[in-house]
Amino acid sequence: MTPPRRCLQRHHRNAACLVGALLICSQSACAAWAPDLGPAVVVTCDPNDSDPDVEISFKTDVYDAILQPMCLPCHDPKSGAGVGFTNAGLDLTSLPGLRAGGDDAGPSVVVSGSPCSSQLLAKVVGAGQRGSRMPLGAPALNTEQIQAIHDWIAEGARDN
Ligand code: HEC
Repeated sequence: MTPPRRCLQRHHRNAACLVGALLICSQSACAAWAPDLGPAVVVTCDPNDSDPDVEISFKTDVYDAILQPMCLPCHDPKSGAGVGFTNAGLDLTSLPGLRAGGDDAGPSVVVSGSPCSSQLLAKVVGAGQRGSRMPLGAPALNTEQIQAIHDWIAEGARDN
């Protein structure tokens, strides 16, 4: 259903026409009339460990599974292509390097016990305080990988 043609003419844009158009829009798909604002972006973060029975290991679940293959190409000071190190100062080759953070995040990159305050988690879900979603220019981490980072921090961000 389209609004009466005369409503589209400037001198006929009165209240009755507008109400008519709004009703039509609320009742049917109205793509041409409503601005496309895209889906609402809601970033929520639950600070609790998603599965307290499972302990996340920094070495195997975070470093070997995520940082090493997906982040070191850019966050290794020894790599010639380490733009994440040269641009942001973040060295992800070790836990002390990670915890030191980069130019923006500093120590808030990992706040032990508080995944929702940690820029490491924020950056991989695209909600960092500045810059792009990580890994830059590559598909986002999957839900399990994001959960592993989240839970490792929630469990105290230990060197385990
Ligand atoms: C293709 C290169 C590239 C890859 C791959 C990459 N990064 Fe980055 N990273 C950057 C660049 C460049 C910046 C600085 C600009 C920005 O923040 O968007 C950055 C910034 C960051 C920061 C903010 C540091 C600070 O304090 O300023 C974090 C945290 C981060 N990256 C984590 C990661 C993680 C975790 C991964 C892997 C899942 C990853 N990055 C993969 C290039 C990369």
